[in-house]
Amino acid sequence: MTDRYGTFVQTSVGKKVAKNLGLPLPAPLDRFESGQKLVRGSVLFGSASGDDNRIAQSAARILDEMHAEIYLNEQDGSMQVFTEAGVEVKSSAGNEDKYKVLIFDASNITNSTELEQLYEFFHPVARQVEASGRVIVIGRPPEQCESIETAMVQRGLEGFVRSVGKEFKKGIAAQLIYVEADAENNLDSTLRFFTSARSAYVSGQVVRVGAGESVEVDWKQPLAGTTMLVTGASRGIGESIARVLAREGAHVICLDVPQQQADLQKVAGQISGSTLLLDITADDAGSIIAEAAQKRGGLDGIVHNAGVIRDKTLAKMDKKLWDMVININLASIAKINNYLFENDVFNEHARIVCVSSIAGIAGNFGQTNYATSKAGVIGLVQATAKQLTNEGKKITINAVAPGFIETQMTDSIPFAVREAGRRMNSMSQGGLPIDVAETIAWFVTPASGGLNGNIVRVCGQNLLGA
Ligand SMILES: NC(=O)c1ccc[n+]([C@@H]2O[C@H](COP(=O)([O-])OP(=O)(O)OC[C@H]3O[C@@H](n4cnc5c(N)ncnc54)[C@H](O)[C@@H]3O)[C@@H](O)[C@H]2O)c1
Repeated sequence: MTDRYGTFVQTSVGKKVAKNLGLPLPAPLDRFESGQKLVRGSVLFGSASGDDNRIAQSAARILDEMHAEIYLNEQDGSMQVFTEAGVEVKSSAGNEDKYKVLIFDASNITNSTELEQLYEFFHPVARQVEASGRVIVIGRPPEQCESIETAMVQRGLEGFVRSVGKEFKKGIAAQLIYVEADAENNLDSTLRFFTSARSAYVSGQVVRVGAGESVEVDWKQPLAGTTMLVTGASRGIGESIARVLAREGAHVICLDVPQQQADLQKVAGQISGSTLLLDITADDAGSIIAEAAQKRGGLDGIVHNAGVIRDKTLAKMDKKLWDMVININLASIAKINNYLFENDVFNEHARIVCVSSIAGIAGNFGQTNYATSKAGVIGLVQATAKQLTNEGKKITINAVAPGFIETQMTDSIPFAVREAGRRMNSMSQGGLPIDVAETIAWFVTPASGGLNGNIVRVCGQNLLGA
């Protein structure tokens, strides 16, 4: 699980060798630490000119609440918005220091000529972003734009952001947030996540923030008072999810197969959670989970993380391997969700998160079974999200799709394939379980009511399926 090459290129000799040979130079990534400021540096904010100030107003309030050091161009239309809101800002004129975060509100861009404002904001500061910095563009969902031309340019933002993610290097991540009209007040959890070190290994992603109902939280412990269940919690990504959700204040019911009892008890003990020994493919898995949850007043969230790989090319794949992967990774999730919905186990603002994979987006050699299951998970999330909206429920469902994450699962991959998997992304390194866990913590906060049906890759902008 150690990235020896990544460690070697941090030494001065290693750096020289890598540069001379044109090899990848992975930068150490900032990661969130409790007690630290969310944004460790300054923020440059700008907006395209236009009449709609709603996103700028919301951003001003959120950045102010985060105690961010904010810079603005004096000519920028949002200067007035920030000043009227009483938010302290500095002028960006003549500032040659680096920014940690660049945020551009592109929601007012309606035609291709106005796209030049995107260029004018980012071009002068393209070399002024700190390592592990963030580039964030905010727009309106193209499918909700009134004219073809507006939809066209708002969709164009995606190409810009994905390219910046590939160009900027040094662990700098770029994201696009589409905010539906009148959903501006749901931007808090997403802006906090993407501006902070919590999103270290998330880049090139497009997120839609809708008008669902969010609940106000204490940002120091946004999950305080909640009960969350995590499947596959004894090790790897699941263990990290359980630890992060507990850190955020949740009581975590840690579930894993009976064979993992010792490890599971260790994790649950350390986070003052509880354990549930269960094979999620068991016929009565739904009712056993329901019983455990109801003892704690229902579920505020479930993270379907448990999963397996059984790789073989299709021609060599035994039917047993096919069935096993489909049952654990896909069928069990659908069955458990159905049971929990039918028996009202989810509380009013419950959050469901499924763990998919970039293999489910791109497909992968030797993974017909796994990729089918993980693509199925995406289908399940999107269809359930739609149904929840249609039924007027406040429950949400989203998915993370990890890329190469350093765990026992990826440690078992042959060396050459493993090395390729690790480097084939904009960060030139594998992610850590904590990167997936932080992304899930963002989805499950009661404040993320505007996020429903999103599929976010935690893959350092992996080339697979990009
Ligand atoms: N590691 C990666 O790079 C990566 C990439 C993409 C997706 N994922 C997905 O992330 C999730 C976690 O992966 P990981 O790398 O931590 O794997 P892991 O093998 O280290 O952990 C998986 C956990 O799930 C549990 N589990 C398996 N079958 C179960 C069952 N039937 N009932 C209950 N628990 C069961 C295992 O006991 C184990 O504790 C999986 O869904 C995996 O497909 C991982």
